[in-house]
Amino acid sequence: MRLKGKTALVTGAADDRSIGWGIALALAQEGANIVVNDVVMPNELEKRVNDLNELGVGGLAVQSDVTDPSAVDDMVEQTIEKFGQIDIVASNAGIIRWEGFLEITPKNLRQIVDVNIKGNVNVCRSVAKQMIKQGQGGRIIITSSVQSDMHFTVTPVYGGTKHAMHTFVGSLALELAPYNITVNHVGPGWVRSALNDPAPDQQSEDDIEANRRNVPLKRDGLPVEIGRAVTYFASPDGDYVTGAFIRVDGGLGISKYSL
Ligand SMILES: NC(=O)c1ccc[n+]([C@@H]2O[C@H](COP(=O)([O-])OP(=O)(O)OC[C@H]3O[C@@H](n4cnc5c(N)ncnc54)[C@H](O)[C@@H]3O)[C@@H](O)[C@H]2O)c1
Repeated sequence: MRLKGKTALVTGAADDRSIGWGIALALAQEGANIVVNDVVMPNELEKRVNDLNELGVGGLAVQSDVTDPSAVDDMVEQTIEKFGQIDIVASNAGIIRWEGFLEITPKNLRQIVDVNIKGNVNVCRSVAKQMIKQGQGGRIIITSSVQSDMHFTVTPVYGGTKHAMHTFVGSLALELAPYNITVNHVGPGWVRSALNDPAPDQQSEDDIEANRRNVPLKRDGLPVEIGRAVTYFASPDGDYVTGAFIRVDGGLGISKYSL
């Protein structure tokens, strides 16, 4: 129970197959109270709060769009009203579109940049301001991707937004270090969440198996396994770690990926 009495906000966590929910579960298992956020699925968010309460921690559901800065500020205010403080944020919400560079539509380009870059900026800024006000430090953890340092075809803009998080995290870590706020990111490899359901190379069991063969450890990652890396950064074990990146990918990032 290394996080007992702490409060964590996790974005993009409504779906029980999602990485956000895996992160929420891992933090809750260490005793943290959790604010679960998503832009859709309010009923699912309420179910997640019940799940959290069953685990013996406090929960709050906030349906909010991370691309809207005032909605994000409002979410942080709701967190403070309910729990009095915010100690940890897992800025995790993200979207992907499978489109080769020459096919990218302006609409998809805008949406990916809005959620994957502006959304993280909005969440981190709003939470950092609150943490500075509290004066007790804090932990910011972004979910980037193995694509932070690995290249794939058909997801060039997504990969670009994830690589951007590497630079963003480093700069933020420098700027927030004087406040004892650490900033790190985790890079999932291949997790079978709803995000990957429409992936063109995962539409049959054969394709899914072929994908697994590309992973040195020969299996998909579990959302809670990403959550444990987030918990490392959020817990006292991560006290001296800032500006760092952990890939949780079964070795995908060091493998020879083939489609
Ligand atoms: N699944 C994977 O294999 C994988 C691999 C690498 C990185 N990631 C990253 O992990 C994170 C979580 O992905 P996931 O696999 O759980 O996907 P997911 O689609 O299951 O969950 C993401 C959630 O974010 C929410 N969301 C989207 N836009 C939002 C917004 N504007 N405001 C608030 N919430 C919003 C979605 O509604 C969704 O519930 C993403 O950043 C993704 O890029 C996933």
